[in-house]
Amino acid sequence: MRLLTMACCGVLGAAACGPSGPEPKTTPTPPPATSPGALRPPSAFADIEAPDARAAALFVEASRVMLHPRCTNCHPAGDAPRIGDDARPHLPSVMRGPENEGVVGLRCDGCHQDENLELARVPGAPNWHLAPREMAWAGLDPASLCAQIKDPARNGDKTIDEIVEHAGHDALVAWGWRPGADRAPAPGSQAEYAALMKAWAEAGAACPKKESP
Ligand code: HEC
Ligand code: HEC
Repeated sequence: MRLLTMACCGVLGAAACGPSGPEPKTTPTPPPATSPGALRPPSAFADIEAPDARAAALFVEASRVMLHPRCTNCHPAGDAPRIGDDARPHLPSVMRGPENEGVVGLRCDGCHQDENLELARVPGAPNWHLAPREMAWAGLDPASLCAQIKDPARNGDKTIDEIVEHAGHDALVAWGWRPGADRAPAPGSQAEYAALMKAWAEAGAACPKKESP
């Protein structure tokens, strides 16, 4: 790719090179991901000129993390967490309880500790508990997820800035990239996910449309 560009530079002169070259500025879709486990950086979306379209594309990329089983298993559609990439029922059967921390005798922190217990396969991170019902993500498409995340009634009364902050620093979010045992981590890294969310916010935090990929 670089070699090709340089060859063009040689033939066509400096005007055909780099960002000031004749390339179209409104690329509708960013280049495909290099691998399913990787995230594209915000710079991959810089060519999308219209802020709303850029924000929407950035959110779709970030949603690959949020809709990953490491996140949705703890943001389930019902009252019980899920396990594994196939989101199978949590055994033993546990319920969210009044505070999303389980019920008496079967509290989440009765088994889940501040860190993964490798031998027992129990995942762990500080304050392990279920995302509240209104933060259910399992089964959502990126457009619905985006609308929900921006809705203070369904995001824990957070501002966009607080959502970005949460993405970069929350310990339960961080667990998604060091899930222990043989669990697949969420795509990319927490820093890359947070960078996408930040770029989405800076572009105006528009949401993708329903039919977006
Ligand atoms: C162990 C359970 C658990 C896991 C795993 C988990 N979350 Fe959450 N999540 C929560 C809880 C509990 C809250 C509510 C905390 C709050 O409001 O401060 C929450 C809230 C959030 C919020 C803010 C509220 C919203 O819905 O807009 C975001 C964003 C979020 N989580 C992202 C993630 C991402 C990304 C992952 C995966 C990398 C993840 N979470 C994995 C339990 C979890
Ligand atoms: C009796 C012990 C016990 C209790 C209580 C318990 N868990 Fe678990 N949980 C486990 C074990 C063991 C696993 C790992 C299962 C496996 O991977 O084979 C697990 C796995 C999970 C996972 C799966 C992570 C993934 O992506 O695969 C989530 C999410 C989870 N628990 C959330 C909770 C929440 C939330 C509560 C409280 C409402 C809770 N658990 C209560 C033992 C428990």
